[in-house]
Amino acid sequence: MFQIKRICCIGAGYVGGPTCSVIAHMCPEITVTVVDVNESRIKAWNSDTLPIYEPGLKEVVESCRGRNLFFSTDIDSAIRDADLVFISVNTPTKTYGMGKGRAADLKFIEACARRIVEVSDGYKIVTEKSTVPVRAAESIRRIFDANTKPSLNLQVLSNPEFLAEGTAVRDLKEPDRVLIGGDETAEGQRAIRALCAVYEHWVPQARIITTNTWSSELSKLAANAFLAQRISSINSISALCEATGADVEEVAKAIGMDQRIGSKFLKASVGFGGSCFQKDVLNLVYLCEALNLPEVASYWQQVIDMNEYQRRRFACRIIDCLFNTVTGKKIALLGFSFKKDTGDTRESSSIYISKYLMDEGAKLFIYDPKVLKEQIIHDLSQPNISEDNPERVSELVTVTSDPYEACQSAHALVICTEWDMFKELDYEKIYKKMLKPAFIFDGRRVLDHLHAPLQDIGFQVSRQEADHTSAVPNVIFSRSKIRLRFSNAALNFCCHIKKEKKMYPQFE
Ligand SMILES: NC(=O)c1ccc[n+]([C@@H]2O[C@H](COP(=O)([O-])OP(=O)(O)OC[C@H]3O[C@@H](n4cnc5c(N)ncnc54)[C@H](O)[C@@H]3O)[C@@H](O)[C@H]2O)c1
Repeated sequence: MFQIKRICCIGAGYVGGPTCSVIAHMCPEITVTVVDVNESRIKAWNSDTLPIYEPGLKEVVESCRGRNLFFSTDIDSAIRDADLVFISVNTPTKTYGMGKGRAADLKFIEACARRIVEVSDGYKIVTEKSTVPVRAAESIRRIFDANTKPSLNLQVLSNPEFLAEGTAVRDLKEPDRVLIGGDETAEGQRAIRALCAVYEHWVPQARIITTNTWSSELSKLAANAFLAQRISSINSISALCEATGADVEEVAKAIGMDQRIGSKFLKASVGFGGSCFQKDVLNLVYLCEALNLPEVASYWQQVIDMNEYQRRRFACRIIDCLFNTVTGKKIALLGFSFKKDTGDTRESSSIYISKYLMDEGAKLFIYDPKVLKEQIIHDLSQPNISEDNPERVSELVTVTSDPYEACQSAHALVICTEWDMFKELDYEKIYKKMLKPAFIFDGRRVLDHLHAPLQDIGFQVSRQEADHTSAVPNVIFSRSKIRLRFSNAALNFCCHIKKEKKMYPQFE
């Protein structure tokens, strides 16, 4: 059997860095080199302050960095020396041309494929770790075939990553499954066996599943679509709860106890964020349209539409509760990362809620325990968020390093990320600092257990759904319903006119 002794990972991001650190940690006899074009990122991986925050990651990196784990910008040498090359670069949603706003941009994958074929010699296994549309491996293979040389033998595998940010190290050490897809030929099966042997250092064989390449690529997109769909499903029910007085937590518990449904991913919230769910569902939608499956495409498009609706609904609620105007009002926004235990803000719901509040002229005082000020300002200054007016960010946004400072003289406190520390804040102290009536909008329902004490302190508490009576005077609430109905209709209309059909732009 071919034995993998040296691994190169192209892309030192949220996936490449943790994945290869865990491989190096678990396989001391394999040398792992993670490379990236981004020099400052590599410098940070080689320093005491890693470029990403993940619980337990620092310990893993420090256990093997300099021994069998290396971070480098010398991409060509690392590819040349490797038996196996992971492609772990970003595959963002396209922002230009055909498929703009929906298709995955594969230009970084293509650049890697061209680099690999140019500098390689002999036998190598090239493995897609990035999330890609189905049949991307075929495009990689065609680039290899068109540029091959007599000494070269490159096998292409698909090995999508299922880690979740915030629990990446645990997910990598104890994965639910490892999925490896490859050719059904003898050569393909040999490559699959070699990669299986790497994971078998710590993953039980029963959890390593092998499939054909296309099933593997599609499984990753489908897994993210199913997860996002659950969030949108429970969020849609939360809107119904709000209109009827049912409690979505109680409904979620009741339906989640059905073993066929299960209890995970049934928490109503201000919507999903992160670099993957939206991007991958949009990619799936685009793929379906390109394959002339419009009914399937519009089914999955609804998952995205519901997420946007939920964010907008939450922002509308805040505005309505604050007597239909937030212009010039100070609002403390706690949490900016897309979920707890990560500093990643990509597609965070906080960005969109901030946008809607800024559109109304609110003054935002933002606190997050892990996100840097520069990142928050950068995210809010993007043209689609700042409405092409980045100056409004300096006028309206202050980033604080202390949650209590953020609440000083605030009309409302808005929780956008479920950081554990928000459960332990001194709310009596916060109440004294805030203007009255003091509103709390708990977009992640982290304060459910404190609901009664918070009301005793004097807060007007509004959770993600239900309980509107405690925070919202009836007259304002009914107005809110009218506005929401309108914005939903407007949203549907926008989605309708967006649906044009185009072929999927592969990168050749
Ligand atoms: N972030 C997640 O939770 C997660 C989970 C599973 C899968 N994925 C998928 O994994 C892939 C990577 O995601 P990420 O979050 O790590 O992205 P990222 O943006 O954090 O990292 C990608 C890195 O690749 C580097 N890069 C791009 N082109 C390069 C090139 N030609 N040569 C060398 N380096 C290059 C970039 O500089 C960047 O540092 C994506 O396809 C994503 O969908 C992400």
